[in-house]
Amino acid sequence: MALGKATAVGCANIAFIKYWGRRDNSLRLPLNSSISMNLDRATTITTVAFDAALKADQVIIEGADRADQATRRVSEHLDRVRALGRIDARARAMSRNSFPTGAGIASSASGFAALTVAACAAAGLEMDERALTILARQGSGSACRSIPSGFVEWHTADTSEGSYAEQIAPPDHWDLCDLIAVVQTEHKKVGSSKGHELVGPSPFASARLAEAERALPLVREAIRNRDFGTLGEETEQEAIRMHCVAMTSRPSLLYWSPETVRIMHTVRGWREAGLPVCFTIDAGANVHVLCQEQDAALLDARLRDLPGVLDVIANRPGPGTYLTDAHLF
Ligand code: PMV
Repeated sequence: MALGKATAVGCANIAFIKYWGRRDNSLRLPLNSSISMNLDRATTITTVAFDAALKADQVIIEGADRADQATRRVSEHLDRVRALGRIDARARAMSRNSFPTGAGIASSASGFAALTVAACAAAGLEMDERALTILARQGSGSACRSIPSGFVEWHTADTSEGSYAEQIAPPDHWDLCDLIAVVQTEHKKVGSSKGHELVGPSPFASARLAEAERALPLVREAIRNRDFGTLGEETEQEAIRMHCVAMTSRPSLLYWSPETVRIMHTVRGWREAGLPVCFTIDAGANVHVLCQEQDAALLDARLRDLPGVLDVIANRPGPGTYLTDAHLF
């Protein structure tokens, strides 16, 4: 089989029902099913080339030739692709993000989605979308939701084959916007990968799980019916539940900064004044402000005026992970 080079672009995604905690850490099987939207302006581009002359994988993330945990995770994922393709060659993998890495915008999702699609293509593997989501999930759980386009559900299951992601609705189904209010750009102290392992001791873990299960069909239907009221209500509650679990884990994870909380209050104030808007927050301090296209320009400008907001990244529903000829090397 001819080994080649391939490049893929993957979007980050924002979860309305979150993935927080796993039933199986090595296979990355989540405790609960989750629902998200791909973010068209928060992307990772990754080029992978297998090369029999290389002695070890060479991983270049954001221009830096790194030998750390991120590199090891990339190498382990390349091992999964090598096992599927029955190849021995090491690879060169280079990736670049369109947004700050490790700051509550899921760079692991866009990164592992792009890596999965690029590495499989470079290895000459032909896999359908479901198989790609299962493979991406093993690199980083939320990455599986970045493989299909638009609005996506990731199913929980006890087996690897059962825990895949599929589209709920295409990107043009609903003009939902995610305005990411960036208040922090440095790496968070405890990444989500570790956070999932700390859920157990939280006294709220099982209550959150029950609530996430209750809310899952409501959020799915709210997307299908373009019902912003229900989506906003359930999404905001779920974000707060996830952070309650994180805060009561051992050790306790407190991702919010004073700016985060200030924006939460401000968004609620805008909503009380009649604007259809809500927030959600991943494992970081940045606030994802959700609204519809008709209110996006106004809210974008208002967010930029708030103290502590360094940037606003305005996202519409994004495509699935796709191959491109724009190789990075
Ligand atoms: O896929 P991971 O390990 O980066 O976990 C993502 C966790 C959250 O972003 C906080 C929630 C989610 O469902 O995306």
